[in-house]
Amino acid sequence: MRILALETSCDDTCAAVLGEGGEIRANVISSQEVHTRFGGVVPEIASRRHLEIVNLVVAEALERAGTTLAEVELIAATRGPGLVGALLVGFATAKALAAARERPFAAVDHLQGHVAANFITGDRDPTHPAQPAEGRRAEPLVLDHDGPFEPPFVCLIASGGHTLVAQVREHEGFEVLGRTLDDAAGEAFDKGARTLGLGYPGGAALERLAEGGDPSVFPFPAGGPRPGLGAARNAFAHGLDFSFAGLKTALLYTWRELPEGERAARAADLAASYQAAIVARLVERAERALERTGLDRLAVGGGVAANGVLRRRLREMGATVHVPPRALCTDNAAMIASAARYAPHTPYPEYLPLDVYATGERPR
Ligand code: KG4
Ligand code: ZN
Repeated sequence: MRILALETSCDDTCAAVLGEGGEIRANVISSQEVHTRFGGVVPEIASRRHLEIVNLVVAEALERAGTTLAEVELIAATRGPGLVGALLVGFATAKALAAARERPFAAVDHLQGHVAANFITGDRDPTHPAQPAEGRRAEPLVLDHDGPFEPPFVCLIASGGHTLVAQVREHEGFEVLGRTLDDAAGEAFDKGARTLGLGYPGGAALERLAEGGDPSVFPFPAGGPRPGLGAARNAFAHGLDFSFAGLKTALLYTWRELPEGERAARAADLAASYQAAIVARLVERAERALERTGLDRLAVGGGVAANGVLRRRLREMGATVHVPPRALCTDNAAMIASAARYAPHTPYPEYLPLDVYATGERPR
């Protein structure tokens, strides 16, 4: 089934076409650079930018896929969670495209999309330009994994908005085993990057800075159980939930306490130590989830999965670890199309009254 999907839950305007075998025929990601100067995503600006370019992005996806709307059999879009105004643009556009052709429609949960990035068949988009147009991610669309990863598996999703570990028993749905109690891992990277004077979003910049640093210099807590912790803290430490807020504060205090003249010289060590602590927390929870479920297969999704240190640490684990290529780990519409293959396909016109949702409440 040929699927056109849209994803606009945050600040990337994305459209993708999946072919009959679930292979990617086009995966267009237009990132909004405009938020950099504000140090974070400004929701109203994000919605407006989506509105300005969504039709162009859809047209480009269809063109790159060598197809037309008439040949598309199913249209899908992210329903939530995310920024409501941003979601509305992609969701309403997709519903309108589907309604105009009286095609069925699939409303997709964003996190289900990150899970479904793992089901995508290994392929290349032959039309993907080596030098992308301005505003597009420079990353070539190369799938470096060996085909789709099938359930059952444990899935670690770590993005700017979400961090959770889930059990995936089948292609549709997942059971949350643990989630962050405060910040998401990507948010911890972004806020850490801001403390260190790097731009937004800062995950990749912090990783680059950390490359020249020693991760053992600053002993940030890895979040595991420790003697002397109270019963409640130790219950958390033995559990599957995540917490990053304390770590972020620890970085801020360490930075503030450094004499100003020393900061530049210590920044790389600080970035490396902070990154190591975030990664240690993610890896520890992932390992524990595998232990508790008795599974030996781990898939990873979300923007933080682009982190090289995390990828290396995960690959060192005993389990079979599947990390999709970077272009499928960060927000994209190919993952939404992939999830749509297994989601309910609502016939025209039943989907017209559907609305988006901002929070993690997933209507089923
Ligand atoms: O999944 P994603 O594209 O969007 C959300 O749904 O949030 O994730 C974006 C997050 C940002 O917080 C960004 O800093 C982080 O992923 N990120 C990274 C790296 N690349 C992106 N974090 C750590 N290391 C990276 N290389
Ligand atoms: Zn995401």
